[in-house]
This record gives sequence, structure tokens and C-alpha cells, in this order.
Amino acid sequence: MNSDYRAFVARKSGDDIICEITTKALEDLPDGDVTILVAWSSVNYKDGLASIAKGGVVRNYPRVLGIDLGGTVVDSTDSRYAEGDEVLVTGFDVGVGHDGGYATYARVPGDWIVKCPTTLSLREAMVFGTAGFTAALAIRQLEHVGMAPSSGPVLVTGATGGVGSIAVSMLANLGYEVHASTGKKNEHNYLKTLGAAEIHDRIDLSSKGRPLDKEIWAGAIDQVGGEGLARIMSNLMYRGAVACTGLTGGVTYSTTVLPFLLRGISVLGIDSVMCPSDERPAIWQRMADELKPSRLGDLIAAETDLDGVAKVFTNILAGNVRGRTVVKIN
Ligand SMILES: NC(=O)c1ccc[n+]([C@@H]2O[C@H](COP(=O)([O-])OP(=O)(O)OC[C@H]3O[C@@H](n4cnc5c(N)ncnc54)[C@H](OP(=O)(O)O)[C@@H]3O)[C@@H](O)[C@H]2O)c1
Repeated sequence: MNSDYRAFVARKSGDDIICEITTKALEDLPDGDVTILVAWSSVNYKDGLASIAKGGVVRNYPRVLGIDLGGTVVDSTDSRYAEGDEVLVTGFDVGVGHDGGYATYARVPGDWIVKCPTTLSLREAMVFGTAGFTAALAIRQLEHVGMAPSSGPVLVTGATGGVGSIAVSMLANLGYEVHASTGKKNEHNYLKTLGAAEIHDRIDLSSKGRPLDKEIWAGAIDQVGGEGLARIMSNLMYRGAVACTGLTGGVTYSTTVLPFLLRGISVLGIDSVMCPSDERPAIWQRMADELKPSRLGDLIAAETDLDGVAKVFTNILAGNVRGRTVVKIN
């Protein structure tokens, strides 16, 4: 282990947040059981929020950002992990209340770690990252309330984004008829290549509709939130369900109880951050074995390094990214 290392750090300066790459010493690593040489991280919408003052996700500064990391164990006091193990960390406090993945080294509690499935490379695992884990959780929750490929079409909103791109691909892999909603007119072919059967213009779904409208979708995975969520609820088929994962379009929506009472629909909350440790390995294994998109490593993934992270933040906050961006650390 080198005695010092590079890290992408957010610090407070008055009311502003300054992001910069600094050199840190090994003694700066936070408390934890397992020290990891980070190979790859990724950029999520939440990482973008972490870089701005009004983002509201970082609890204290200075903070090494990066809510995802994949790497190799270099030191461990946790008997479950040994030097040389390839491991993944997503969620919990990483990159918001505990130093994260945009650094050569990370040190975390053993309970936050998942062993990387042997059929996934660390790079592939970070193309998934929190986004892929969230898409897999959403599919699992929808299946719990009965959704199956024979139930009918499934809508994915914010479809060209990280969670969206992976959700479209995973659902298509499972045999669903996938409808994708996007604001990007020039990305329809991309979504079709991922497996979308039908594309909806975001604008058509972003406004409030009638409380009960035509039954179109058996299920939905919604990254966008806001009034569009009420619209989706009104278009769910009898006993349909929407997995609510994101808020890129807003946090409030208004609706009536009619879709619940007359169509028996469900609105399912999805939280990837505090998902219990004992549930995570099976979800990652399913992502590796059954859900992995064939174009995960190239079409869905762009690549940058620590020096390129700030630019990706600007793009992701403006809603301008397509798919996922992985960050090469070592
Ligand atoms: N619940 C959880 O545990 C969890 C985990 C991960 C992410 N999330 C949340 O899920 C959302 C997506 O995350 P991500 O990392 O996939 O982000 P992302 O890559 O930036 O994708 C978000 C997508 O939303 C759409 N969008 C952007 N601005 C919009 C606007 N103003 N109105 C409507 N649509 C807009 C865009 O897709 P189109 O151009 O294709 O429409 C964009 O690509 C975020 O809100 C994030 O915080 C939650």
C-alpha cells in the first residue's frame, strides 16, 4: 500500500461546495474493518447532488464522494473477507456520511460489503452500481406483487438514464414487453437496442391525467416522480403496480384513492441505500446470472477517470447523460 493516495473531495467554502482532487494520507482513511484498493467507481444522480450545496445528500464535509465502489481487499479484520477478495460496496453511508469510492483506497465496515459474483468483472459490477442494484430491487418488488411477462407491458420512465437503461435491458432479458419513456428524441434507437418495444415522449406522461384512465401497463419503474407518477397510477391495469425509485422530475404528486379502490393497484417504494446486508448477495448474483444486459459493458457504459468526474456531474444534473458512467480509479 502506498502511503498516500488521490481522492475526489467535496468541501464547504461559505455557502458553496468546492470539489477538488487532493492527496490524502493512509491515516486519513475512516474507521472500518476492511481496506479496499478501489478499481472502479461510477457516477449516479445522487453523486451529482452530493457535489452541489442544495443537493442535500452529504451529511458532513470534507467528504470523499462516490456512492459506489468495486475493488480488491488489501487488509481486513473481518473474518468474512481476506486480502485479494474482489468486493463491492453500494449505499449505506458511502460517499455521503463516510468516505466513498472516488479514491485509491476506501475503508468500510464489513457489513456494507458484498463479494463480487465470480461471473461479473469489477468494471461490469460498477456499470451496474447503485443504478443496477436499484433496477433489480424494483423488479424483485414488482414480482412480489405478481408481475410476470404474461401480465402485460411494463413502463420505464427516465429510460435513457442509469437506472432506466438498466431496467429496460433487464426487463427485456426477462421477456417483458417494455415501454420506455424518454425526453431524448435522439435516443429512441438506443432504447430499442436495449430491448424497448415502444417509446413514449416524456412530455406526454409528465402531466396529471384523469384519476382513472385507460389501462395500459401491468407494471412500471418510475425514476421521475412528480405528477407523472399520478399519471402512471391512472394508467395501470387491474392489480398493476409501480415501483417508485426516483425524483428527477419532482417530489410531489396528487392523485385520488380511485386507482387503489377500483383497480387494486400498488405503489411500491424502492430504497437501495439501507437494503439489508443479508438480502444483497442474492440480488447481485441474480444480476450477474439472469439480469445482465448483453450490452452492459459497452452500449450502456461510458468511462471516465477522477479528472473527468466533475464534468459528468454537470451533465447528469442537467439530465443529459445516457446510460451509466464508470470511473476508472486504479
Ligand atoms: N430509490 C433508490 O434507492 C435510488 C437509487 C438510485 C437512484 N435513485 C434515483 O433515481 C433517479 C434516477 O437516478 P439515475 O442515477 O439513473 O439518474 P440519471 O442517470 O440522471 O437518469 C435520470 C433520467 O431521468 C430523466 N430526467 C432527467 N431530468 C428530468 C426531468 N426534469 N423531468 C423528467 N425526467 C427527467 C432523464 O431520462 P430521459 O431523458 O430518458 O427522460 C434522465 O436520464 C434519481 O432521482 C435518483 O436519485 C434512487
